[in-house]
Amino acid sequence: MDRHAAKAAWQGGHPRPDGKAAKPPAAKAPAPKIVLASPAGPPVVERVRGLLAWCRPGFEGECAQELSTLAARSGSGGFARTERGSGLVEFVGEDPALAGIRWRETIFARQLLVLLGRARNLPTGDRLGALWPLLEQDGRRWCEAWVEAPDSDAGRELATLCRGLNAALIASLKARGLLDRASPWRLHLGLTAGDAAFIAAADVRNAAPWPGGIPRLRFPREAPSRSTLKLEEALLVLLSEGERERWLVPGMRAVDLGAAPGGWTWQLVQRSIHVVAVDNGPMDAALLRSGLVEHRREDGFRHRPPKAVDWLVCDMVEQPVRVAARMAEWLANGWCRHAIFNLKLPMKKRYEEVERCLALVRGQIPGIELRARQLYHDREEITVFARRPD
Ligand SMILES: C[S@@+](CC[C@H](N)C(=O)[O-])C[C@H]1O[C@@H](n2cnc3c(N)ncnc32)[C@H](O)[C@@H]1O
Repeated sequence: MDRHAAKAAWQGGHPRPDGKAAKPPAAKAPAPKIVLASPAGPPVVERVRGLLAWCRPGFEGECAQELSTLAARSGSGGFARTERGSGLVEFVGEDPALAGIRWRETIFARQLLVLLGRARNLPTGDRLGALWPLLEQDGRRWCEAWVEAPDSDAGRELATLCRGLNAALIASLKARGLLDRASPWRLHLGLTAGDAAFIAAADVRNAAPWPGGIPRLRFPREAPSRSTLKLEEALLVLLSEGERERWLVPGMRAVDLGAAPGGWTWQLVQRSIHVVAVDNGPMDAALLRSGLVEHRREDGFRHRPPKAVDWLVCDMVEQPVRVAARMAEWLANGWCRHAIFNLKLPMKKRYEEVERCLALVRGQIPGIELRARQLYHDREEITVFARRPD
């Protein structure tokens, strides 16, 4: 049994193969060890079927629960295994229907890949050599190849190795005639240690277009707070390019609940959108001078727009169910057409809480479109986009 199987910590929804009760992840586990030296023993590459997800470290349990729920919904058997703090979840299952689960359907998976195999004891001198039989048997040609490591402490230490191996992998694929820019498949090598990796595939039409599922955004110096990156990422990840063009038009009107000091308002002002910023706290002075912002020192749970606006955004630190109910009220009353809101999740049953909040909004506005995701810039929280039906 390999390192992951031995430390398997969590499966949501599905019975464990050994029949024992599923256990939630331990509160704290020692950081996974990194092996950079050449291991003893021959390389082992085994074929595995299922899914591989990258997620925020600390949210492996939620990601595992989500994959188990989606797998059950697609009628597929299998089980999730992970290690707390590892930043990844494996969902092991043979059913081809698993490959139909879309990255965009997930909230906690930053990236969702089709698992092909797992390798260990890779020798330092030639880590790629052992992978070719599996890749040749798979038979796919690849438009691109990414060597990645999870967003964990251990994973970050593998960043230099990933870069070096990435160049070597692409060169070898080319030499073997396995590179084809027209192919929809991207090869992913997920390093979990210096001598161990997952081998996986992504259909580029159904996967995050950023290595590790992380869009790297630069903090704009003029923005009043780092929170600005959350809204920037939400607009980038939750909307398509066409939707951004159609739905974020200069001259539109927005309300920002819990706006101070103004990072989210700043994003809207950058797009020439007029904003009513609701918060008892002070707003950034330069932002107020833009002429596009009206600051109202009011309670975000009481403020009502005199007439309907195009956008409602909300980053109030409050119980998620209270925020969800407030969003549902705005959308159901037609006070806004689109909304982006953050749900803070400091509680224990975070996955259940998210489901409860989304069900609450869905229950009040039939046909509402909801897209939810734990963004890279989200911490103990998720961000939701909602759009009222026409
Ligand atoms: C995380 S901060 C918002 C940061 C902001 N999105 C930005 O980008 O700068 C949360 C804000 O919510 C505000 N807030 C909390 N409860 C509120 C309420 N009931 N009404 C209005 N604002 C509230 C707080 O004053 C605080 O400024």
